[in-house]
Amino acid sequence: MSRERLIEVKDLSFRYKADAPLSLDRVSLEVYAGEWLAIIGHNGSGKSTLAKCLNGLILPETGTVLVDGLNTRDEDAIWEIRRRVGMVFQNPDNQFVGTTVQDDVAFGMENHGIDRDEMVKRMASALKLVNMEGTENREPHRLSGGQKQRVAIAGIIALQPSIIILDEATSMLDPKGREDVLSVMHELNKTKGITVISITHDLDEAAGSDRIIAMEKGRIVLSGTPREVFQHPERLLELGLDLPFAIKMRQALSEQGIAVSPDAFSEEELVEELWKLKSTI
Ligand SMILES: Nc1ncnc2c1ncn2[C@@H]1O[C@H](COP(=O)(O)OP(=O)(O)OP(=O)(O)O)[C@@H](O)[C@H]1O
Ligand SMILES: [Mg+2]
Repeated sequence: MSRERLIEVKDLSFRYKADAPLSLDRVSLEVYAGEWLAIIGHNGSGKSTLAKCLNGLILPETGTVLVDGLNTRDEDAIWEIRRRVGMVFQNPDNQFVGTTVQDDVAFGMENHGIDRDEMVKRMASALKLVNMEGTENREPHRLSGGQKQRVAIAGIIALQPSIIILDEATSMLDPKGREDVLSVMHELNKTKGITVISITHDLDEAAGSDRIIAMEKGRIVLSGTPREVFQHPERLLELGLDLPFAIKMRQALSEQGIAVSPDAFSEEELVEELWKLKSTI
């Protein structure tokens, strides 16, 4: 993974109203080009507020947010920042503006003044990348939740972004829809080098990321690789978070007197450990 810094957040604080408590409290964070970063944290811990600061939807009260060196406070840069940092939100039904898939994917491109021929090319290639080719004339409201989110992603891809933020973008989907959206995103991350920030309550999903940060009361309170973060299950529970399936399983086994290596934190590793145990019986 390249260590080129794509986003630099320094001492960022934000509150929604002058007399409200801080929703972000001196947050500093770097996001590297090509990585998949998961942001976890209890409801109201500041995850969405941080995401909105990263693409300049809201501006810092104090501190700075730089995207590829562009400052979100710089009015001349904001349009370019919004193009580079795409956001997919939780509710697939709130993201549509047009009556056909084509209108929707074109919407962002039209706003960014991309010419017609280029738009046609990018539309076809973006829909292909999210496995929705040939759906240009379909009506968005007739699509499944997972398909809707993939069309929303196509609209972002068409703008050739550096980074896509998924703000609980799979939480309203059924397991198949979730799987489809995540596999498309993993593919875009791997083959196109698109950086992904995934805000999620699903700790199994976070386990598949390169790095995790956990937030509490507007601050980053834990940060590390999944392996590092899941070494402290008690801390995650304190933060009001669930645990990945493999960790819960390991704990249940240990309560039964079956000790599994604390290094096993993915389902695959757990299965491997259980095989080893089985052969010793
Ligand atoms: N539009 C708003 N106006 C006023 N306060 C807000 C607004 N949006 C969020 N807040 C407050 O800011 C804090 C952080 O909220 P935020 O939505 O960033 O949390 P979150 O971690 O995304 O939570 P969730 O997991 O529920 O999506 C909370 O105290 C919340 O009540
Ligand atoms: Mg949120």
